[in-house]
Amino acid sequence: MTKPLIRTAQVKDFVSIQSIYAIEVREHTATFEITPPDIEEMTLRWRHITDMGLPYLVAELDGDVVGYAYASSYRSRPAYSHTVEDSVYVAREKHRQGLGRSLLTELIHHCRDLGKRQMIAIIGDSRHNASIRLHEKAGFRHVGTLEQVGWKLDQWIDSVIMQRSLVSEPDDEVFNRDAPADDIG
Ligand SMILES: CC(C)(COP(=O)(O)OP(=O)(O)OC[C@H]1O[C@@H](n2cnc3c(N)ncnc32)[C@H](O)[C@@H]1OP(=O)(O)O)[C@@H](O)C(=O)NCCC(=O)NCCS
Repeated sequence: MTKPLIRTAQVKDFVSIQSIYAIEVREHTATFEITPPDIEEMTLRWRHITDMGLPYLVAELDGDVVGYAYASSYRSRPAYSHTVEDSVYVAREKHRQGLGRSLLTELIHHCRDLGKRQMIAIIGDSRHNASIRLHEKAGFRHVGTLEQVGWKLDQWIDSVIMQRSLVSEPDDEVFNRDAPADDIG
């Protein structure tokens, strides 16, 4: 497979980003949104994130945007300012090609370089193995499950909470930039 280019998102990427997210909103339970936001709304959200100095990345394959990831503030109150929440989405037809891992690894690096200390993943649905395994492989641990807090697509959905330190440890493979990408995780 061609190696993906992971880069900062630009305005022109939001046609692809909106279409990747709209499918997740309409047909799946990773997100608790029910009505897909339009391109304008997605662009406003992106500006809000980048105005806070947080990273918003895309994965590009052969010129097409096929995935994206961003960090948002975990909570708005000031004492939470060193903690971020991650979001990662990959186009369905490109799953299991390493794009989610590349995006999340790069996001972790960006957030660590910004001095952030903890990253939280709030995963829709405890049956969502892909996201849970992706985060485990990136060094996250399970810290709790909020049971049946969502109702979507005619079912009750849990929120799985996972957490990762962004403070570098000597044996932390994601922070070892010398490791080949395939060895990470
Ligand atoms: C979660 C998601 C981003 C993973 O992206 P991806 O590009 O398919 O993942 P990768 O190919 O990089 O896989 C990395 C690791 O995640 C795990 N994984 C990914 N998909 C999996 C699946 N369907 N079942 C079990 N494990 C899976 C594997 O451990 C994999 O490593 P391996 O291939 O070496 O076994 C993707 O499934 C997705 O966009 N899902 C919908 C949106 C979502 O849930 N986002 C997370 C919300 S924060």
